Amino acid sequence: MADSDINIKSVLQEDRIFDPPAEFMNRSGGAWIETMEQYSTLHAQSIADPEHFWGAVAEELHWFKRWDTVLEWDCPDARWFAGGRINACYNCVDRHVENGFEDQPAIIWEGEPVGDKGPETRTLTYGDMQREVSRCANGLKAMGVGRGDIVTIYMGMVPELTIAVLACARIGAPHSVIFGGFSAQSIADRVTDAGSKVIITCDGAWRRGSVVPLKANVDEAIGLTDIVERVVVVQRCENAITMLAGRDHWWHDVVEEASDECPCEEMDSEDMLFLLYTSGSTGKPKGIVHTTGGYLVHTFLTSRYTFNLRHHEDHVYWCTADVGWITGHSYIIYGVMQNGIPSIMYEGAPNYPAPNRFWDIVERHKVTHFYTAPTAIRAFMKWGESHPRQHDLSTLQVLGTVGEPINPEAWMWYHRVIGHEQCPIVDTWWQTETGGHMITPLPAATPTVPGSCTLPFLGIDAAVVDEHGVEQPANTGGLLVVRKPWPSMLRGIHGDRQRYIDTYFSRVDGMYFAGDSARRDERGYFWIMGRMDDVINVSGHRLGTMEVESALVSHDAVVEAAVVGMPHEIKGTGIAAFCTLSTDWKPDDELIETLRAHVASEIGAIAKPDMIRFTDALPKTRSGKIMRRLLRDVAAGREAVGDMTTLEDFSVLAKLQSDEG
Ligand code: WT7
Repeated sequence: MADSDINIKSVLQEDRIFDPPAEFMNRSGGAWIETMEQYSTLHAQSIADPEHFWGAVAEELHWFKRWDTVLEWDCPDARWFAGGRINACYNCVDRHVENGFEDQPAIIWEGEPVGDKGPETRTLTYGDMQREVSRCANGLKAMGVGRGDIVTIYMGMVPELTIAVLACARIGAPHSVIFGGFSAQSIADRVTDAGSKVIITCDGAWRRGSVVPLKANVDEAIGLTDIVERVVVVQRCENAITMLAGRDHWWHDVVEEASDECPCEEMDSEDMLFLLYTSGSTGKPKGIVHTTGGYLVHTFLTSRYTFNLRHHEDHVYWCTADVGWITGHSYIIYGVMQNGIPSIMYEGAPNYPAPNRFWDIVERHKVTHFYTAPTAIRAFMKWGESHPRQHDLSTLQVLGTVGEPINPEAWMWYHRVIGHEQCPIVDTWWQTETGGHMITPLPAATPTVPGSCTLPFLGIDAAVVDEHGVEQPANTGGLLVVRKPWPSMLRGIHGDRQRYIDTYFSRVDGMYFAGDSARRDERGYFWIMGRMDDVINVSGHRLGTMEVESALVSHDAVVEAAVVGMPHEIKGTGIAAFCTLSTDWKPDDELIETLRAHVASEIGAIAKPDMIRFTDALPKTRSGKIMRRLLRDVAAGREAVGDMTTLEDFSVLAKLQSDEG
């Protein structure tokens, strides 16, 4: 088995099974999937005849024209609902207006700064959304944006972000959202790869009381490419920025002049809805392509069943992710809005101005469904129980987690302190590439075990196999694969067909390989063991070790760099970098800080190494390959174990280990 990423080793042994709380059905007023028997029967049927299953789900959405075939599969190419014509924005917004829900809240937004009168909040109803999205869509059209033109969105968590995303969907312009924590260089790389001529941004974004200079980053990025023609700027922080006449336009000017009526384009089911860049095992991020019909069907159903969202209940749903990641795309916007449920967008940090901020939001907005990442839960654990204890969290019904394996301590804390032992926890395994949930409990049905994401979602044929595609026996590690296509699967990597085939469909013949290793227990539950490629999962965000290495060696001081994951109390996995230096540079603390800042400016703050070690040489095999496995041991403070017969120079390792601490 290949090297895999570091897992948080738990000191807590927790193998209790938690049945869905007895009171859950009462508190939630019912459930879509009520029992394990119902799940098992449905799952078996959905796998036996996926086309029948997904076809029935698709009937629930609005189509301008019904599809001809549910699925055309020619591995690795899937076409879902081919011939169908549909619009994502119509299904998220217009449909609810037409059904009489015009005045129901769609987006409940809360800003980060807290003034004398409390935080600023804004509620946009479905009617408001229809008008605001149409205005923005018309504004984009007036700039010449049309079907198929990729629009880059680099914004903070403000309502205009969701409006911009849906406006693109409305006019058939695929969006490429870049998380606001990425650097100018990262923006430039993505804009160039996508061939995107228009960027929507903000003057700045609030983060822990200071302003992230988004517009200045965009200006710098544009200087590194020559394809951007127009920039639309939302005024949020009123920080000083420069506006270039002819190129830069204020959002408020653009929308003010635009009509609030704009028809939805009738898109082909397989037209691209969006591109989203994510890290892989090479230095260059890949643009994951998602298309329209299948993505909508899958995110609609998973939102409904995984969280047990029901339109007519008093549901208020809050996913704490940023729209810059797939979690925000699928489970703040598309999946949740298709279900007509109010979705909270919070602008800022979880501990600003104080560590009770999230729980204050839950109490004030009466949040019923809450979805966050294990790294956040670990931070709350550290800040202490007193913060959530100050607040009434009794409205909560379902708790979700996503992004990385959750350690049992964090699971138990979430269950006890946030859920008061009354809320099922859904640990959802999925990826940017899968578009939506793949393995997850269903809250009223699935007994949960802390640390396991339990069982495949309906219609998903997930398995743990060996290199030949043969299923592994219970409790034996193997490759996590999906054996049948699913509606929201990626359709490719933008501009790189070969990389798509190599990354996902070459490891095991005829199956999607996720990049993770996993095992199933005697109950059939899945336990994710970690990445098998050179990808690390830092605070639930995916980073390629090679990306960080390239950033380091792009600095004059660094000759060679090796980056590995190391256990980190809050982040799950932290970043450890081993560097050899050019002789003109002194290996001191100042250089460590310089290099950390350099990585932040090359990629973004999320990629800053937690530890940098200078070394005279890196441990290599005789053929010159860096032995990362040994570096992982050194970074974790463990004695290096295992086969070292290929190590070229033992003294290199011995020196790294003796320099410990
Ligand atoms: C990788 C995908 C899906 C949105 C957030 C991350 C890891 C994700 C879980 C989970 C264990 C998980 C996997 C996966 N991962 N969810 N519930 N349990 N591991 O999306 O950036 O595309 O990363 O995150 O390693 O491959 P992403």
